[in-house]
Amino acid sequence: MLNKLIANILPYMPKKLVWVFSKRYIAGETIEEGLLASKLLNAKNIEVTVDLLGEFIETLEEAEQNKDYYIKIIDEFTSEGIKGSFSLKPTMFGLLIDAGACYNYVHEVVKHAAERNSFVRIDMEDSQCVDMEIEIFRKLRTKFPKNVGLVLQAYLKRTLADIKSLQDLNTDENPINFRLCKGIYIEPAKIAFKNYQEVREHFLEDLEYMLQNNMYAAIATHDKFLIENANKLLEKYKTPKNRYEFQMLYGVTPELRQSIVDQGHLMRVYVPFGKHWFGYSTRRLKENPKMANHIIKAIFIR
Ligand code: FDA
Repeated sequence: MLNKLIANILPYMPKKLVWVFSKRYIAGETIEEGLLASKLLNAKNIEVTVDLLGEFIETLEEAEQNKDYYIKIIDEFTSEGIKGSFSLKPTMFGLLIDAGACYNYVHEVVKHAAERNSFVRIDMEDSQCVDMEIEIFRKLRTKFPKNVGLVLQAYLKRTLADIKSLQDLNTDENPINFRLCKGIYIEPAKIAFKNYQEVREHFLEDLEYMLQNNMYAAIATHDKFLIENANKLLEKYKTPKNRYEFQMLYGVTPELRQSIVDQGHLMRVYVPFGKHWFGYSTRRLKENPKMANHIIKAIFIR
């Protein structure tokens, strides 16, 4: 109740106050701050996936600017030798304005990354975007099999079927690369599992299918139960190190993260940065009022 209330009033709170909470989860506003956070993580033997903040844009001009900025980010991060890759949200490239134009922009970004031997992950957004984002991935994966991956959300009832429908792209030489997460948007019960334990069960079912079928699984969660059970599946299928990794969000559960690194697994942290951090933070909080707990802590415990 209190969580929900705080989440709802957050967009109207002073920016400075929201920053008190957000600074733990966001690397900063500039490329330099993103680079610094990534270097510090690399020094701890952790790879990164770098994300420029910003979603649902209103004009294709913004999409073009975002494309140019991503290309600059790829140039700067690769020339600095950062161990990592890039994540992007297609709505930042105009998915909901003109899907064809969006594909062309994302294609340019992935091509640029491929020329630098790098990798771009297509984040999964809310359910109105899923078919279109899978389609963009399918087309790009055919052209750049080593350089593009997709996110799948275990809370969607369709996800196992989606994994199977993309299986034709999987090869031993270039395994298809999925990030599996629970899913962060609020979706109707008709299409999404709403029960916490049920989402966990489907997460493990999806993961097991990926491992059984030699796909590359990026296991993106801070949930200890899922991490323990993922480890059991990795042992069961004797999954080689080049077929999986763990992923976490910047600033979240650093001790758990370190314990996974210490066990010798590859860990990648999602590093968001950019001047649109305010919208990102407040939207995330509205989507997931449970996160308001963390604001209360951040405000009172400094
Ligand atoms: P859960 O929410 O149950 O959290 C488990 C525990 O982790 C909590 O009890 C708490 O201790 C801790 N925790 C979790 N979130 C925290 C926070 N913000 N602050 C402090 N502690 C926290 N979603 C999506 O829809 N599309 C996408 O493309 C992505 N991409 C993505 C990338 C990466 C690398 C990660 C880790 C996650 C995503 N997500 C995502 C978000 C994902 O769907 C999910 O909402 C969050 O990871 C939270 O789910 P958990 O599995 O961590 O479990």
